[in-house]
Amino acid sequence: MKKTVIYFFSGTGNTWWVATRLGEKLHQYNHQVTCHSIETLMNEDVIAQLSGVDHIVLGFPVYGSTAPRPMIDFIQTFPVSNGRQTMSIFATQALASGDTALIISRLLEQKGYLIQQARHFRMMNNLHLPRFKFYPPKNDQRSDQLLAKTLPRVAGFAQEIATGKKHITGNNPLSHFLGGLQRRHIDTMIDKAGAELRVDAKRCILCGKCQRICPTGNILHSQDQLTFANKCVLCLRCYSQCPTAAILLGEGSADVHKYPRYKGPGKEFNVDVLIK
Ligand SMILES: Cc1cc2nc3c(=O)[nH]c(=O)nc-3n(C[C@H](O)[C@H](O)[C@H](O)COP(=O)(O)O)c2cc1C
Ligand code: SF4
Ligand code: SF4
Repeated sequence: MKKTVIYFFSGTGNTWWVATRLGEKLHQYNHQVTCHSIETLMNEDVIAQLSGVDHIVLGFPVYGSTAPRPMIDFIQTFPVSNGRQTMSIFATQALASGDTALIISRLLEQKGYLIQQARHFRMMNNLHLPRFKFYPPKNDQRSDQLLAKTLPRVAGFAQEIATGKKHITGNNPLSHFLGGLQRRHIDTMIDKAGAELRVDAKRCILCGKCQRICPTGNILHSQDQLTFANKCVLCLRCYSQCPTAAILLGEGSADVHKYPRYKGPGKEFNVDVLIK
């Protein structure tokens, strides 16, 4: 039985869904799989988990043709390899992923890993803000239909991992060009959008959920008021999961018909799976 570890970061659940389905499919190929949300791990956990491992998978959402900051930080502290350890990278995306998985693969190659697959999977969009309009997320059967389309592609990915078949996407001039364009602006865009975080005090019931689920500890609560520090990575988790849509990200985002919040993949999704 081969030992495989999957590490993922997921803001609103899509990457968790792919990581979980991938784990189930790999199990059918006789892989013993463990799957971890990186925000629940300490560096020592990772070192212990990597002992005797045959294959490593990293997954994250595309943010402007690169990975979210928590995943970049995770990779920076990831142990160096001896040049023989195989790895796969996957990214979930809404529309345009450029050369994301390939760019992140290079960071891991510099650490001595052998990248066998770099793949992108289309999932529901979670980013639709006044500042950044992609297309409104759907929380109905259209989201389920997209999952049904993506599932066979995840199964194919599992087969490639099991058989060691190389598959690298995004290695062409157009993907590099689009990726490069997006990467130039993403950090500024994240910082500007994060600075617009507000709470509508009339809607907020002070349930504490946003504070509990924020992956960076960016939400502070004192004297019956929520405030935000400057550590937002724009994962959109608080914005999407607030039960009263009290978290606002820009002028106009109070209108939930114009700016619907993405509730995550499938009916089984519960945000707690990302933080436990
Ligand atoms: C800050 C940010 C930037 C994004 N940039 C892109 C992008 O460049 N291309 C794209 O196709 N999707 C983009 N998206 C959409 C997400 O990548 C996509 O919905 C992903 O599946 C969300 O995964 P998650 O639910 O695991 O967080 C972006 C989302 C966010 C929050
Ligand atoms: S999740 Fe929403 S309702 Fe609950 S404390 Fe946060 S902003 Fe208020
Ligand atoms: S404040 Fe909200 S959007 Fe920003 S990192 Fe925390 S949960 Fe994500």
